[in-house]
Amino acid sequence: RNKNIQAKLVFLGDMGAGKTSLVSRFVRGQFSDFQESTIGAAFFTQVLSLNEATIKLDIWDTAGQERYHSLAPMYYRGAAAAVVVYDLTSSESFERAKKWVQELQRQGNPNLIKFLVANKVDLEEKRKVGNEEGELYVKENGLYFLETSAKTAHNVNELFYEIAKKLAKA
Ligand code: GTP
Repeated sequence: RNKNIQAKLVFLGDMGAGKTSLVSRFVRGQFSDFQESTIGAAFFTQVLSLNEATIKLDIWDTAGQERYHSLAPMYYRGAAAAVVVYDLTSSESFERAKKWVQELQRQGNPNLIKFLVANKVDLEEKRKVGNEEGELYVKENGLYFLETSAKTAHNVNELFYEIAKKLAKA
């Protein structure tokens, strides 16, 4: 018996963390070194087939620039899953991600499936945030964690399929 699920997924995180690049890598199989900063938000859809379910994701890729912060609740309200992205070459980006997690804990849907994603793992030589820092933070705050690269596609399919599997179980 195959379930059909439609769910809203929101991407949050600092500007330049790689939200658009991750979504674009997954939905279009493309990456650009010159990805433009998102204005407001961008919308994508993608269908994922699991053995147990077919999941249609409505994906909101929000803008990370501070001036758009006040719009964010419109996008995470009603979301079934959220991905908070940081750039592992930037400590500021990690701090910003923690702020997003706190906002989701306070104001998001209580059953929200939350992932913390450390992106740009291809830039290992420029890394500022250790893997163990991300791991520890998610353990203490009840999220799931992955390190990704939108550039090389490392863990990108894994991210979306992990989310889909959790949605199918929910
Ligand atoms: P806003 O729209 O401003 O919130 O940014 P964003 O989080 O959507 O980031 P975006 O996807 O626009 O990426 C910002 C920059 O980082 C772009 O120049 C991308 O090419 C680059 N970038 C994104 N992901 C990666 C990655 O995994 N590795 C490397 N090396 N660069 C990346």
